[in-house]
Amino acid sequence: MAGNADKGRLVSALAGDEDQQLEAGLRPRRLADFTGQARLKEVLQIAIDAARKRGEALDHVLLYGPPGLGKTTLASIIAQELDVPFTQTSGPVLQKKLDLSGILSGIMHRQVFFIDEIHRLLPDVEEMLYTALEDFHLDILIGTGPGARTHSIPLQTFTAIGATTRQGLVSAPMRGRFGLVLRLNLYDVPELTRIVKRSAKLLDTPIDDDGAEEIARRARGTPRIVNRLLRRVRDYAQVRAHGHITMAVAETALDLLEVDRFGLDEIDQKIMRTVLEKFGGGPVGVNTIAASIGEEPETIEEVYEPYLIQLGFLHRSPRGRIATERAYDYFKVPRRFGGVERQPELF
Ligand SMILES: Nc1ncnc2c1ncn2[C@@H]1O[C@H](COP(=O)(O)OP(=O)(O)O)[C@@H](O)[C@H]1O
Ligand SMILES: [Mg+2]
Repeated sequence: MAGNADKGRLVSALAGDEDQQLEAGLRPRRLADFTGQARLKEVLQIAIDAARKRGEALDHVLLYGPPGLGKTTLASIIAQELDVPFTQTSGPVLQKKLDLSGILSGIMHRQVFFIDEIHRLLPDVEEMLYTALEDFHLDILIGTGPGARTHSIPLQTFTAIGATTRQGLVSAPMRGRFGLVLRLNLYDVPELTRIVKRSAKLLDTPIDDDGAEEIARRARGTPRIVNRLLRRVRDYAQVRAHGHITMAVAETALDLLEVDRFGLDEIDQKIMRTVLEKFGGGPVGVNTIAASIGEEPETIEEVYEPYLIQLGFLHRSPRGRIATERAYDYFKVPRRFGGVERQPELF
């Protein structure tokens, strides 16, 4: 059935082409439909209400957290809630200062300008953005040589929303220009279960509570993955089980697709095996783990570790990462020095 490439993709939090088309339909449009992230939602709701009341632009917002947790969704929800237009671009797309000045000069008062992957802006584009965010103007150099002059072009006051999976790569001056810096956390199983049920309803698919929960449990704490798994289980249910997703149907379908019981992907597995087998359960530094599996330390810290910690497989100690008892059990690794006792946060 699912080959290795497929298997990796099913639990990858990165959006593939298929996701991008299908996600639009499942995306919540209002803050009230956005499940979980209670504190973040409250902070945002207050800021939005206050900005609306004053008729001013909302402060710039920086959203960070692992992929697939709802950053793009939130950015478009904010525009909806403010009742303003939404213009979207991304760090890798904005190659030239001219691209940025072109977009910014067309931006309207109070509107939302969303910059995805803001950590990937080129330095001169980033610098131009600084003045735009800070004083709402652009400095444009006209002419060359001794005759060159800087022109200051005023902009409308707008709201920039930046998104990044790599907080550590956002420069301090950039970060400092955002009035609201908000972190998205991984979702717990009850929250993901609610998302599955909502999506199943939108997809017109009958689902039992425990069937929804089984899909939620294998989704790496990530709404994008939960929706993807739901679509695959729904295919299976329609072809083999009269369209209704029960616990048994969800289990059989996900096993067939080789989705790990905790949704671990290949890199999660590599990280855990490295700590458990190569380093006797730790403590081992994140740089050492990174070098040994050929990933960047920041990617491990910001994208992979949060889930392994939430699952209760990995523990962060001042001396390095340590595998837990639960990890020894799950990966069936004989204990050499023993793991630390730790209550999982998720189950
Ligand atoms: N809190 C949430 N409630 C319901 N669906 C969500 C939530 N967060 C994300 N999703 C869904 O997950 C998918 C990925 O979200 P997205 O905003 O693209 O993530 P990110 O930009 O952080 O990578 C979208 O289809 C969206 O509908
Ligand atoms: Mg996104």
